[in-house]
Amino acid sequence: MTIVVCRCEDVTEEDIVEAIEEGYDELEKLKRHLRLGMGPCQGKTCMLIARRILGRETGKSVDDMDTPTARPPSQPVPFSLLASPEECEEDE
Ligand code: FES
Repeated sequence: MTIVVCRCEDVTEEDIVEAIEEGYDELEKLKRHLRLGMGPCQGKTCMLIARRILGRETGKSVDDMDTPTARPPSQPVPFSLLASPEECEEDE
């Protein structure tokens, strides 16, 4: 059974476990390698689950893990642009 951990970036539990076995043994490394937590929700749900998987696979304490740096979009955009893609197409 495939368990999708990050729905935004389509990252499965199996992807995370394989990455940890390859040496990506910190949340920041997993984030950069798999794009985990870099989707539209910015990891609001998947990072908690990934943290637990990482703890289970490495034996690290979940409380001792660093939190990856949040990097919001570099330029603010109006919500109306995000809410109505049709408007965006009309502007082009
Ligand atoms: S579920 Fe992972 S970034 Fe949204």
